[in-house]
Amino acid sequence: MTNLRPTHRFLLTITTLIGLTMSEFSLLAANYDETKVPKYELPDPLTMRDGTRITTTKDWIGKRRTEVLEFFRDQVYGRSPKRPKGLKFKVIQNDATALDGQAIRREVLITFARKEETPEANMLIYLPKNTDGPVPTFLTMNFDGNHTIHPDPGISITRSWVRNIKDWGIKNNRANERSRGAKRSRWAIEKILNRGYGLATIYYGDIDPDYDDGFSNGVHRLYPKPKPNEWGSISTWAWGLSRCLDYLETDRDINAKKVAVMGHSRLGKTALWTGAQDERFAMVISNNSGCGGAALSRRQFGETVKRINTSFPHWFCDNFTKYNDRVNDLPVDQHMLIALAAPRPVYIASAEKDDHADPKGEFLSGYHAGAVYELFGLKGVGVAKQPKIDQPVGHHVGYHIRAGKHDVTDFDWEQYLNFADRHLK
Ligand code: GCU
Repeated sequence: MTNLRPTHRFLLTITTLIGLTMSEFSLLAANYDETKVPKYELPDPLTMRDGTRITTTKDWIGKRRTEVLEFFRDQVYGRSPKRPKGLKFKVIQNDATALDGQAIRREVLITFARKEETPEANMLIYLPKNTDGPVPTFLTMNFDGNHTIHPDPGISITRSWVRNIKDWGIKNNRANERSRGAKRSRWAIEKILNRGYGLATIYYGDIDPDYDDGFSNGVHRLYPKPKPNEWGSISTWAWGLSRCLDYLETDRDINAKKVAVMGHSRLGKTALWTGAQDERFAMVISNNSGCGGAALSRRQFGETVKRINTSFPHWFCDNFTKYNDRVNDLPVDQHMLIALAAPRPVYIASAEKDDHADPKGEFLSGYHAGAVYELFGLKGVGVAKQPKIDQPVGHHVGYHIRAGKHDVTDFDWEQYLNFADRHLK
């Protein structure tokens, strides 16, 4: 320690006192200063890794899209298995008098294997009444159990592992009545139904409880322990959303060709990855998804690849950690994740006070995905500069930055509904 410079020695003493290693400490020191964003060069979505330029949609679909998708699979999120043979659905409740008679509430039990040991997942669906036919639907995962999205007493309380939240009286990771409707403000259910859309949701912990348990619970218990290029939790949740769509395809009240996958934060990352892989989804919506979602990794603003892999080691595949200290060596960046959805519409939303998720980096991803939309003769966001607060922009790529913090609000939903009206109706 005697050879160290005084500032270094001081930091080492502090970090030792609070029990952090120096590298952990440097992780905490995120950059929130735009002038300190390093110079970077983004990989070109339309140039193959061998240098070949892509000029047709045929080559994008047949060559470059595959190359990019395979890289994200192998080195970022991890590969998932196919639809399991034992997958089964059972409608366990169907109530046409829900929400004061305004809606149909349906619950579908999803099981994944024939064995008695199958995990159980419960999908909740609300449908508007008196419609002309099958309805376009938003599919989205929730963070704390289906019963938290609305006070409706008919929603089953999740029996899966949940986070212990003191305010809701949750101990021993078991949900209870007190959390019913606790997350209501994030779910504009009445608005969605009034506009003629259905809403389907599933608790992400039904698929894979969100903690680093070595992949032994949730649906992972049916599969061998993941290899370094196999599914982390984000891939697992995405796989779960595809299984939900497998059900929606069988439900005659739902137009399965018009399902938008939407998610917030870590589940916004998940929505983007779901839509990138599963082309049955007609639209993709990312709400405040940040690092590993819509935000460009190379900007290293707010949360970085190294930070996210350290704080949440189970989210991505192990291969991704190779890039912790060399994001510029990634042959992809997150604009290419957006581009994987093309020509399907994608909406990206940021929040003004959400620096951790790098709102500007989220906008730029949408902007730089535009090249691929243009190849299809479509317009992306249509503006080169991030718009002002609360001013939505965009064509096939929609974008807004909303006033306020990291959250999902009625304002966000209003924009998603307008975007869906334009592209799904
Ligand atoms: C943390 C994490 C983010 C993530 C967020 C969330 O803040 O750093 O990457 O998006 O949790 O999911 O709420």
